[in-house]
Amino acid sequence: MARKLILLKPNYKKQHENYIMENNTVKIFDTTLRDGEQAPGCSMTVREKLRISKALSDLNVDIIEAGFPAASPGDFNAVKTIADENRGPIICGLARCHSEDIEKAYKAIKGADNHRIHVFVATSAIHREYKLKMAKEEIIKSAVNSIAHARELVEDIEFSPEDASRTELSFLAEVVEAAIEAGASTVNIPDTVGYTVPSEFKKLFEYLKKNVKGIDDITLSVHCHDDLGMSVANSLTAARSGARQIECTINGIGERAGNCSLEEVVMAIKTRSEFFNLKTNIKTNRLYPTARLVAGITGMNIPRNKAIVGENAFSHEAGIHQHGMLQHSSTYEIMRPDDVGISQSNLVLGKHSGRHAFRERVTDLGFDIDEFETNRAFNEFKKLADLKKDMYDGDIEAIIMNVDSSSSGPWVLKSMQVTSGTEQSASAKITLIDENAKEKTVKSNASGPIEAAFKALETATNIQLTLKKFDLHSATTGDDAQGEVIITTEFEGRSYRGHGVSVDIVEAGSRAYLEVINRILRRQRSGVKSTSKKKIKKSANII
Ligand code: KIV
Ligand code: ZN
Repeated sequence: MARKLILLKPNYKKQHENYIMENNTVKIFDTTLRDGEQAPGCSMTVREKLRISKALSDLNVDIIEAGFPAASPGDFNAVKTIADENRGPIICGLARCHSEDIEKAYKAIKGADNHRIHVFVATSAIHREYKLKMAKEEIIKSAVNSIAHARELVEDIEFSPEDASRTELSFLAEVVEAAIEAGASTVNIPDTVGYTVPSEFKKLFEYLKKNVKGIDDITLSVHCHDDLGMSVANSLTAARSGARQIECTINGIGERAGNCSLEEVVMAIKTRSEFFNLKTNIKTNRLYPTARLVAGITGMNIPRNKAIVGENAFSHEAGIHQHGMLQHSSTYEIMRPDDVGISQSNLVLGKHSGRHAFRERVTDLGFDIDEFETNRAFNEFKKLADLKKDMYDGDIEAIIMNVDSSSSGPWVLKSMQVTSGTEQSASAKITLIDENAKEKTVKSNASGPIEAAFKALETATNIQLTLKKFDLHSATTGDDAQGEVIITTEFEGRSYRGHGVSVDIVEAGSRAYLEVINRILRRQRSGVKSTSKKKIKKSANII
């Protein structure tokens, strides 16, 4: 069906033209909450997504792809909540070339001040033949109709020919031209399977620039996956070849090997600005706090040697390097830690620090918490300060994550005692309090202390989980550092992740376990039925 095209409203047209003119700024399109969340085990709750979206606004990303509203009611709700509550960046929802997807995307994003619908369809021969079973003409028709449909609802439309890098160049140019004619204001070129290499990708962009009518009137974008470890290099090459939007994720999280890492691509553009002659709007000193926040929420720890935000990225071990650094930091350092928000004096607050100083540090670290959470976090901070001699940023982050995740019952951990040893089996005694302030104490034995504690929690709450993964790492340095536990569990075919922190690692694990149990109970009470495994995998498994 032919659809009516809507002309761009003058103010939108002006903004768009200004942008095209000021063409050395590369827009940063963050897809942590959509493509990043598709990474196994990275699903997030609506509350967690909202928190990340606020950190992305503080980072000053231009566009947040908040999710794929048609994937599941949970995804719809997350996109809608972000669109309704987050001010600043353009909020984008993904849609296949299906009317229902486009309508759902619109309903989810319409509350945002600035919103975008991102429609995509695969174009490569492999996808056409095996996945879509559609001929070239049908693909073009479907893209054009969907863009026209989306343009009836919003002005800002992005179109992606999925698997573009493996699409025949002449067909790709044909699709892109048709998409522009139909009203797409951004055309994104995805390297969906992380297959291309920089020199080849450069030719692809040059080909499109030369052969597609109208290409200079739209924003050309790039979206790379990291299967061969070249997503950042390919994205930068695309930017040098005319792309003015880069799609990326915090810490490079995403399906398989992940997506182009936001912090890497941004810092490459900044550090080598004379080479690229490009800039971004990113507040680079928010990079590190945002990276830590995403790692804490998703449980995808940042590798120590990760560029820009890894623990070792700015540490110098070799004597010769240390000597050079003492003479002049530029000998071995091309960026300063504070450029990316790593505070050099990491030792922050102490036992005598007041609530005001605590609150300021929390905000500095990129957390936006309300008064109630601040009070709870400050109480936890004071308790911890009595146990630990030095308090670091990592301790504060751990407290905030804990306060957030444990803020809603029904069960609260009152106390626990666990004994274990080489010559004896372990035992745990746990007291929980329910929402009516009623206490329940349960004892249990097992071969190890963690198992004993988990068994006691299961008996007390009548919820049996299957533990799939137990990750432990220290939140900071030192013998008295807090242990941070992230568990992945399964219940009725669904995967649930929990997070707990304490100077006692058994307690940290128990908090993580109880967090999952509480989430399941809340879900059961809200009347949500369990979904089959297959369905969950297809939808963006939000728990
Ligand atoms: O990798 C990809 O092709 C995508 C598209 C939906 C843009 O994520
Ligand atoms: Zn992708």
